[in-house]
Amino acid sequence: MLAVCVDAPGGPEKLLLRSVPRPNPKDGEILIRVHSTALNRADLLQRRGLYPAPQGASEILGLEASGVVADLGPGVKGCWRPGDRVMALLSGGGYAEFVSAPEAHVMLIPSHLSFQQASAIPEAWLTAYQLLHFVGQVKPGDVVVVHAAGSGVGTAAVQLARLAGAIPIVTAGSPEKLRKAEELGAAAGFNYKQEDFSEGILLFTEVKGMACGTKTSELEWVSPGRGADVILDCIAGANWEKNMRSLATDGRWVLYGALGGCPVNGDLLGKLLAKRGQLLSSLLRSCSLQYKAELVKAFTEKALPHFSPDLLPVLRPVIDSVFAVERIAEAHSHMEANRNTGKIVIDFPDFQSLKSVNLDA
Ligand SMILES: NC(=O)c1ccc[n+]([C@@H]2O[C@H](COP(=O)([O-])OP(=O)(O)OC[C@H]3O[C@@H](n4cnc5c(N)ncnc54)[C@H](OP(=O)(O)O)[C@@H]3O)[C@@H](O)[C@H]2O)c1
Repeated sequence: MLAVCVDAPGGPEKLLLRSVPRPNPKDGEILIRVHSTALNRADLLQRRGLYPAPQGASEILGLEASGVVADLGPGVKGCWRPGDRVMALLSGGGYAEFVSAPEAHVMLIPSHLSFQQASAIPEAWLTAYQLLHFVGQVKPGDVVVVHAAGSGVGTAAVQLARLAGAIPIVTAGSPEKLRKAEELGAAAGFNYKQEDFSEGILLFTEVKGMACGTKTSELEWVSPGRGADVILDCIAGANWEKNMRSLATDGRWVLYGALGGCPVNGDLLGKLLAKRGQLLSSLLRSCSLQYKAELVKAFTEKALPHFSPDLLPVLRPVIDSVFAVERIAEAHSHMEANRNTGKIVIDFPDFQSLKSVNLDA
């Protein structure tokens, strides 16, 4: 099968498309013939040798994929049939024509979503879902700050915060990304390159609190100037003081990335203690198979039905661009330059001729 390989750590030019052995589905696994995969920031780190695959995972990049069921491993319990349209959360291996995944990490694709749209869901949406619900314990009426609002995870988190009845407010580095976030449901947005977002967040909660006399359902939970109940933080070091300032007393600060570096200078712990803040962190890829299975189950029951146009609010994967796999290096450069709003999808060739693929090859 064709797969994208990295022989030596480095830039996008190190990505090579070549033929490798097709994986065999192990006990309880489903083999998927991949139509599309999607990029994640972790792929860039792994390509540079800074984020190795967890033990036992495929060395091939790719944390999510969509396609059809090609084969079932021994011990698969569900009623999967060859040809079923599926998408999967992966711990690696998505940048290939075939990938194997535990059946509990595989979801049927809602009928009206394309393979490209489906490939944009598993990693970003499951991450956002677990940050909000499993880690951040979001409640209706909570003010939730979503940093990097134009990212794959950010575009999902804004919509899922709304679905949870919370009030998402966002930061991003361009007016286009902020506009998209507002279209997806953000109540306010701040360009972190041009303004101090902590000022904006305190002002937002203050203004909304004072308008509370009107008793609108959305605003009555917000007290004047108290800050955010939950902060979804993938920036870390560079933002810590502004995050600390933006956090409400008893707020939950959920760290899940470090785009702004890790070093912290200053009295972080003292300030956190003064607010009784909770500093939480999460890395989905290294979580146990069982944890991921529970996450997939919860997401499938609570969020996936909302990808149908019949159930409000409607959730939609945001696709920035689609590249053929031969242009994978260009796709990586696009993400590395922070140009994407939403997901970058990669298509594999010859999917239409699937029926003629010899699966024993
Ligand atoms: N913990 C987990 O389990 C988990 C799972 C998935 C993803 N993640 C993390 O989630 C984050 C988003 O991932 P993704 O794949 O969705 O990303 P993405 O689509 O590549 O978007 C990342 C965006 O972050 C912004 N950004 C980059 N550097 C920044 C900086 N120093 N300060 C502020 N903003 C910055 C850029 O947008 P602007 O134009 O707004 O600057 C960039 O486009 C990453 O940190 C990733 O590692 C964590």
